[in-house]
Amino acid sequence: MKLPLEGKVAFVTGASRGLGRVDALALAEAGADVIVTDILVEDDENLDETSERLGPVAQVMTMTKKIFTKTTMEQIKQMGRRSAAFRMDVTNREEVSRVMAEVNEQFGHIDILINNAATLDHTVKLEDQNDAYWERDLSVNLTGAYNCCKAVWPYMKKQKRGRVINMASVAGTHGGYGQASYSTTKAGILGLTRTLALEGARYNITVNAIVPGIINTEAFQMTNPDMRERMIARTALKRPGEPEDIAHAITFLASDQANYITGAGLPVAGGIDLFTF
Ligand SMILES: NC(=O)c1ccc[n+]([C@@H]2O[C@H](COP(=O)([O-])OP(=O)(O)OC[C@H]3O[C@@H](n4cnc5c(N)ncnc54)[C@H](O)[C@@H]3O)[C@@H](O)[C@H]2O)c1
Repeated sequence: MKLPLEGKVAFVTGASRGLGRVDALALAEAGADVIVTDILVEDDENLDETSERLGPVAQVMTMTKKIFTKTTMEQIKQMGRRSAAFRMDVTNREEVSRVMAEVNEQFGHIDILINNAATLDHTVKLEDQNDAYWERDLSVNLTGAYNCCKAVWPYMKKQKRGRVINMASVAGTHGGYGQASYSTTKAGILGLTRTLALEGARYNITVNAIVPGIINTEAFQMTNPDMRERMIARTALKRPGEPEDIAHAITFLASDQANYITGAGLPVAGGIDLFTF
């Protein structure tokens, strides 16, 4: 039986851990060849320096050896799919263009782009916002997704086929207390999604966003425990989602079953976005 994504090449950003890594594995399970990219790669000689520059979560992940970029590539190859791993910083336009060109050359096409990379560890009220982290969040979460869309666009346009899936957040649709920079970027992602859906339609490129609520990743487990409890209490299903819940929605949007869906923001949020009491 043919798998739904057989013959497709998927490109995932920020796939060293968390949702990106689970998405990459799920896309491969659905039959795709998968390119695993992240700014953090386990054997990179500049890993400590990069993590320090990125911020507290990256530093902890590096110290505790929770970086699985190449490991994910190996797991995908063991499933019988083609895969490659790249150190790619989504804020570095030259690097993004170079990696996309190399993938297109090696794999023949790029059919699916998952814009997952993000920084989500700056939670403070406006008066305590760190300006450098404001700039970091905008350049990784929003400009990074723009850079990747712009770099993949010519390939998708030429082949008259493409799927772009962007990671938004309920922080973008509803706001997030203490999350000025993060929620701003995620609201921006929804604008980018709808605009590129309009522009991509004539080339059979669909562009959609996933709008997660709280999902049980390492990043979520590192948030303030009080805040975590409050967020769970607000969720209609009274529990965080699992990374697989996001991966299932992504593989669906990447498949032919979603041919007529574009410009959508699909909540995968356990009802955190509903009025509950
Ligand atoms: N976990 C949640 O509850 C949740 C909720 C809503 C939205 N999201 C979104 O889902 C996505 C994944 O979240 P997660 O919980 O797995 O986060 P995470 O912090 O575990 O993973 C983010 C990944 O992005 C990478 N990254 C950071 N800066 C980068 C850069 N400049 N270039 C390339 N890669 C970079 C990190 O190294 C990491 O592997 C994010 O877009 C996030 O905003 C997550």
